[in-house]
Amino acid sequence: MAPPQPPRGAVVGLGMMGRHHARILQSNPKMRFAGAVDPGGDRFGAVRDGALLYASVDELLSAPGGAPDFAVIAVPTEEHVPTARALAEAGVHVLVEKPLAATVEEARVVIDAVRAAGVHGAVGHVERCNPALRALRERVQDGQIGEVYLVATERVGPFPDRIRDVGVVKDLATHDLDLVRWLGGAPIERVAAQTQHRMGREHEDLVLVTGRLGNGRAFNAMVDWLTPTKVRRTRVLGEGGMLVADTLNADLYFYANAHVPTVGWPEAAARRGVAEGDMTRYALERREPLAVELEAFCALIAGEDGATGGVVSLDEGLETVAVAEAVLESARSGETCAL
Ligand SMILES: NC(=O)c1ccc[n+]([C@@H]2O[C@H](COP(=O)([O-])OP(=O)(O)OC[C@H]3O[C@@H](n4cnc5c(N)ncnc54)[C@H](O)[C@@H]3O)[C@@H](O)[C@H]2O)c1
Repeated sequence: MAPPQPPRGAVVGLGMMGRHHARILQSNPKMRFAGAVDPGGDRFGAVRDGALLYASVDELLSAPGGAPDFAVIAVPTEEHVPTARALAEAGVHVLVEKPLAATVEEARVVIDAVRAAGVHGAVGHVERCNPALRALRERVQDGQIGEVYLVATERVGPFPDRIRDVGVVKDLATHDLDLVRWLGGAPIERVAAQTQHRMGREHEDLVLVTGRLGNGRAFNAMVDWLTPTKVRRTRVLGEGGMLVADTLNADLYFYANAHVPTVGWPEAAARRGVAEGDMTRYALERREPLAVELEAFCALIAGEDGATGGVVSLDEGLETVAVAEAVLESARSGETCAL
């Protein structure tokens, strides 16, 4: 019997993000390219065969090659609902770019549509496929730093002028809110946040969040579009030291606590606290996170065993949108919000 063909995937929305999905779909042997949809055309020249470029989802679905097996939804966040619904109803599995939707209500509509259609759905929280963060999580789970105290993220940089429909909380901090739970090992239980509006836009452009996870661990996230240099840093602090991932360069560092005992002098030991030990930068195998994410989704729809690593479920995506809403509510009200 001939081996099954790789699944055919399409991209809907050929903007900053969709063009990268299109590149991988056209070059990765684990998937085939079914075409791309953008009413604005292919402004980045991402599609090699112009015959596979469509102006609408309807055109894609009725194309001569037949409907795709799956589609990546990379349209602006406020367009996720109609696009996901149309594709799911046509029996197409959907990988929806993060955040799942602009509101919890809309996220539920996507989930209901996917469930009713009996197709697979997932959210593209691609940071979970970053090699530095995957290695960091494995080391935390293996007990390298012992009891975890804190997960802290920093995601700052200049404003990408194209984002108009949501603020920095839903667009960018949703990466962090997903990571914090994934690395910290429990859902977010409460948040206290501050936002700022410095660029004269309707939505916030800076947010600081502190909070607590269901297992008692603390977290914070510092996210903005106002910083003149790009920083993407996640650190997990525990009793044995600190792991730090720089996700721009996919580097992972370990700062160990020093094991230099203060003998027979308890007051001094208490005063000195943690001492600075060795620092290690690990050699990692680095693969493009987006390719890892797409391969994981293809494995999921093919029903391969253990295919869920790298796939973020729609329910997790919904939870993250709910936390983002709690962050905005906390910033508005000045109160700590419980989830
Ligand atoms: N995972 C990540 O790291 C990451 C990074 C950037 C953006 N994103 C997400 O990807 C999505 C798209 O963001 P972007 O920065 O690429 O936006 P963008 O504005 O650069 O591109 C969006 C594209 O969608 C097209 N479009 C609009 N409505 C459409 C429709 N109904 N059907 C087909 N195409 C349509 C537009 O013409 C545009 O080309 C957003 O949800 C965003 O949050 C994720």
